[in-house]
Amino acid sequence: MRKKVIAGNWKMNMLPGDTINFIEQFAPLVKDTEHEVILCVPYTDIFYAWHTLEGTNIHLGAQNMHWEEKGAYTGEISAEMLKSMGVEYVIIGHSERREYYAETSAHCAAKAKRLFAADITPILCVGETEAEYDAGKTAEVVSTEIKESLEGLTSDEVSRLVIAYEPIWAIGTGKSADVETAEKCCKLVRETVKSLYDEATAEAVRIQYGGSVKPNNIKEYMACEDIDGALIGGASLKVDSFKELVDATK
Ligand code: 13P
Repeated sequence: MRKKVIAGNWKMNMLPGDTINFIEQFAPLVKDTEHEVILCVPYTDIFYAWHTLEGTNIHLGAQNMHWEEKGAYTGEISAEMLKSMGVEYVIIGHSERREYYAETSAHCAAKAKRLFAADITPILCVGETEAEYDAGKTAEVVSTEIKESLEGLTSDEVSRLVIAYEPIWAIGTGKSADVETAEKCCKLVRETVKSLYDEATAEAVRIQYGGSVKPNNIKEYMACEDIDGALIGGASLKVDSFKELVDATK
């Protein structure tokens, strides 16, 4: 039985004070959940989140890192630096990074390898654009992103991975994928993992749906066989709605 994983991606929002207030209010509300709850905060909030999360059941995540171990990479942050501040998860390959910062699936593979070496779990994002969706290319785009992003990873690593299927046209648009589409694509992700590795690895990997997940639609996604959680942007920024999302997950 895969444990459900509900992750908030705060993107470029929230100052340290907001982070502390959020966690102080939110943590007691989800203390009894059986799900894994993760907050992926901006770099500048990590230190504050790390300390405020102490003694809670919420896990700390970041939104990016560099694939090299260390060196002359001005402005970059390494996996080891994140690990030293309590980070347990890092989002890689988010469509906003692929689009604005030219992050490729090859970068994702290198980042995932580095994260596993630092004992951090990657949350690998994949998903198609609206034009690709309209052209019926979803399966091709998603399976190619998975194949290229998992290059060089062992089955043991992949079985510990979280993969988020996030159709780009559903991110921040309020236009979420219908349940059938979301389940079909998450199943495709699992089948791609199975074809690259084996059944046990595919059964172990946790797959999230992301893209305009809200308290009023999360239940139907979570009822799907191949959807093991959600990656949530906008609705994770408010204590009430993020709590509702965790509560609605069964
Ligand atoms: P929204 O939930 O705001 O659509 O964002 C989804 C997302 O990009 C999470 O990574």
